[in-house]
Amino acid sequence: MKRLVSGIQPSGSITLGNYLGAIKQFIALQEELTDTEFFIFIADLHAITVTQDKTQLRKSIRSLAAIYLACGLDPEKVNLFVQSEVIEHNQLGYIMESTVYVPELERMTQYKDKKLKQQAGIKSNLLTYPALMAADILLYDADIVPVGEDQKQHLELTRDLAIRFNSQHGDTFKVPEPLTPKIGGKIMSLQDPHKKMSKSDENPKGVIFLLDDLNVIKNKIKSAVTDSDTRIVYDVENKPGISNLLSIYSIITGQSISEIEKTYANSNYAEFKANLAEKLVEYIRPIQERYQTLLASPELDLVLDKGRDNARHIAYRKIQKVYKRLGLGRIK
Ligand code: TYM
Repeated sequence: MKRLVSGIQPSGSITLGNYLGAIKQFIALQEELTDTEFFIFIADLHAITVTQDKTQLRKSIRSLAAIYLACGLDPEKVNLFVQSEVIEHNQLGYIMESTVYVPELERMTQYKDKKLKQQAGIKSNLLTYPALMAADILLYDADIVPVGEDQKQHLELTRDLAIRFNSQHGDTFKVPEPLTPKIGGKIMSLQDPHKKMSKSDENPKGVIFLLDDLNVIKNKIKSAVTDSDTRIVYDVENKPGISNLLSIYSIITGQSISEIEKTYANSNYAEFKANLAEKLVEYIRPIQERYQTLLASPELDLVLDKGRDNARHIAYRKIQKVYKRLGLGRIK
């Protein structure tokens, strides 16, 4: 059996970018890859690279679990769990810190961007974060890691660390492959299409949250920044605003970009945006309805318990092997 691993941070609410770049891939792949075991988690340890309010974090963890299921993750096919409940992530994370070098971590684009925003000081785990992410993946000998474009650099580093560890200590880890979607790997801000859509956008109109009020979603799409001429054509370089909206339209309807361009050849931006707003809201409505039911259901904890137990089983054996390779502890 092959293995697929991926995670999302429960810091704040889940965005349309998270959904289109990551969750939608998980759902599609669980049907396609019948020879693959799935490990999808809530990356709560990653959330504490910045200070979190404990009540809010707890709520966000539960909320993300319900979102995964509401979007269609099938608990019969997927092991869904909370990262901090599988202690081996921390154990291997520390070992990965002894495998990676500081300049490799300092080179990470996300670190360089995020450190500029830390007014209250940069925590050391903001820097070492990719070592923990490598551990998340290597712990399960993942073959495939579906992520958005912004995580590809961390995946490259994970591959380097796996290869380095294997060559220094003997074959231990599988070298994973990233998988990014053809369209939707980088959904851009609706207010600044040169910037990635991100939870932490200072302008809330730039980002759609899956749990936003449906009227708010409509208004965000309708007020999205578009480009200077009026043609509805896909051209990321010269027309990033409309290209971003075309990508969203294409993913949620399953129509190709060229089909959509044809449909709207004689329309203006306002008509196109009004139609997209309608389609997106109808797409998100059932997710929000299922979310409300799931959040209140005891099923959620049962799913997370089962996922945690299955993950632990594999993770424990892997850590034993790694400790042995490194000469840690006593041989039993
Ligand atoms: P996070 O929580 O920032 O994002 C979760 C997933 O959503 C994707 N994503 C996007 N995709 C398209 N357009 C966007 N605007 C957009 N914004 C976010 C991300 O690429 C990601 O796939 N470090 C990770 C979580 C993580 C992880 C892992 C992922 C921890 N350990 C192991 C895979 C494997 C993160 O912070 O993602």
